[in-house]
Amino acid sequence: MSIELSEKLEALAATYGNRFLLEPAPDDALPEHGMRSLDAMRLVGEELILDGIPQRNLATFVTTWMEPEAQRIIAENLHRNFIDHAEYPQTAEIEQRCIRIIASLFNAPGETTGARTQGSSEAIMLGALSLKWKWRQRREAAGKDTTRPNLIFGGDVHVVWEKFCRYFDVEPRIIPLQPDKYTIGPDDVEPHIDENTIGVAAVLGTTFTGHSDDIPGINDLLVRLRENTGNDVPLHVDAASGGFVWPFLYPHSEWDFRLQQVRSINVSGHKFGMVYPGIGWLIFREKSDLAEDLVFYENYLGKTDATFTLNFSTGSAMVLAQYYNFIRFGFNGYRYLMETMQANAQGLAKRIADIGEFRLVGLDGAEQLPLVAFQLTDGHQYDEFDVASQLAAERGWMVPAYTLPPNAQHVTIMRALVKLTLSHTLAAKLADDIADACAILKVKGGLHEHDRKRVKTGTGY
Ligand SMILES: Cc1ncc(COP(=O)(O)O)c(C=O)c1O
Repeated sequence: MSIELSEKLEALAATYGNRFLLEPAPDDALPEHGMRSLDAMRLVGEELILDGIPQRNLATFVTTWMEPEAQRIIAENLHRNFIDHAEYPQTAEIEQRCIRIIASLFNAPGETTGARTQGSSEAIMLGALSLKWKWRQRREAAGKDTTRPNLIFGGDVHVVWEKFCRYFDVEPRIIPLQPDKYTIGPDDVEPHIDENTIGVAAVLGTTFTGHSDDIPGINDLLVRLRENTGNDVPLHVDAASGGFVWPFLYPHSEWDFRLQQVRSINVSGHKFGMVYPGIGWLIFREKSDLAEDLVFYENYLGKTDATFTLNFSTGSAMVLAQYYNFIRFGFNGYRYLMETMQANAQGLAKRIADIGEFRLVGLDGAEQLPLVAFQLTDGHQYDEFDVASQLAAERGWMVPAYTLPPNAQHVTIMRALVKLTLSHTLAAKLADDIADACAILKVKGGLHEHDRKRVKTGTGY
């Protein structure tokens, strides 16, 4: 560009505000000069049109829409550092209210404790650390070896459980799935338990199919074990997705602190708690289930504070948004919203089954998250990855196709989450689009490798 033209443009930029359109976005070093705030805002915003539209992301469990009033609370509280309890005592009090509300929703028998976390991953790390610490205390008190802790869980868990084992030096005892069984129960767990087992983790609402492990069965096994041998193995429930679904859709189903061996539960506020990311919760059955050694007491800004999170500074906005949802919806509101999602999921499932190309994953009437997991029936010229890619190409739907963990790695599943943003009309449109995708694939066959790359093959978050 000539100097003359450049100067002319510079002068015009002050008027038209579009100088940044002519330059590459800074991408490897802090730019020497900044730009006007309006330009910076446009530069960031305009690039994001290349991202997917969150409401069309049917892979994610995470909230993609909140009410304007909730958004206002979030926007007005972004400057409040959550950890600064001395300066923001009311925010800390609201966190404690949320913990008590969730503990009572999960039928805690009495006084309890817990923490706000960044999501279920942090909550799981902390909960599992407490299992390890409590186990070590028991072993030390009995004068026994503490060098070989193990943790039992199924192949149906989220990757965070393996991460915990690797980061914190615990042997993972992973129960493989079977080609036709995608959750675990007591018979799967029993052979793996020994005196070095720090705990068993069971999932309420798996990432893969939305079903639940047999938590009452595993609890009975652990109760029997304790009574017969004195080996008291705690059960942690990973209710990342299910914790805000089961209490409303399946209130009589026992999976929580009604079961004796359930000592801790994690739940993601940013999944069916219906808050934007990131907010999670860890709830202990009783105060004594939190290993005291994990709690740090410090004098911060003149007040003694007890913390046991992995992070320190973090936002308050999502804690306040969680409390907003609790008081805004109440029990009946949450139930109504869950029933709405469930009704739309059931409607979508029926429409997908009616296409005649798919079977639904799971037994009719099984307790499940509001989602549809489905797979192609045998004898097609194309597979689930082709269908997912065709859907992405035609309407931008993000419906993942993925294979299951061992020993069900030959099973491919597609899965659509049905959240509040997938209305009856949109769910019907999605089913029509799936039928159209199949019709097109039938004519032209499976997609080219390049198109298949568009497929979302992760299970979603
Ligand atoms: C069963 C389960 N556990 C844990 C997690 C991790 O949760 P987060 O993303 O809140 O850290 C997920 C996320 O999808 C999940 O489905």
